[in-house]
Amino acid sequence: MDQLTKIPSKQRAHEILAEAERMNPGNWVQHSHVAARAAEAIAAHHPDLQPDSAYVLGLLHDIGRRESHSMRHVLTGYRFLQRLGYDDAARIALTHAFPIKDVYSIFGEWNCPTEEVQFVQEYLDQVEYNDYDRLIQLCDVLSLSTGFCLIEKRLVDVAIRRGINDRVASRMRAYLDLKNYFDEKIVRNVYSILPGVVENTFGFSS
Ligand SMILES: [Fe+2]
Repeated sequence: MDQLTKIPSKQRAHEILAEAERMNPGNWVQHSHVAARAAEAIAAHHPDLQPDSAYVLGLLHDIGRRESHSMRHVLTGYRFLQRLGYDDAARIALTHAFPIKDVYSIFGEWNCPTEEVQFVQEYLDQVEYNDYDRLIQLCDVLSLSTGFCLIEKRLVDVAIRRGINDRVASRMRAYLDLKNYFDEKIVRNVYSILPGVVENTFGFSS
């Protein structure tokens, strides 16, 4: 897989996230740090992915939350990173929430104009997912703000906070399929390379 060129350095990505935290502090910032570490760790065992790039993509995937806490963050993040010329990271800001290319497969509701939802659907329709898209989709769902955890736990956590709809079962299945996909790609269980996953999932103090 080609090297990504349109992403910031790690240092610049940290600066961007720090600025976003000042604008809109919250657990999402720690969640982003955890997702970055998961992406880096998994990419290190993947034949075609670059760990530093994976880290940066994980760190910035939720950057749209600097201005929006709703699902709209996928679009605000995409636009923000595009404006900075970081097209590869912008793409992930949009695709990370869609293991299924259906804007209505989300937890919760869209609360933005129909044209914006349509833009997201059209973007998804024309993009062919690569393993960076898939990696950040996976890392998003196994990263709590406190650390790595079992995907099923995170899914229940999000479902309780945001509600569920009739497409959520297939979305949950898609996440579990992603986990199996990366298990095969890295020839080991994803959880085996994520320190603290047992403690975080079951609430043991370490
Ligand atoms: Fe996220």
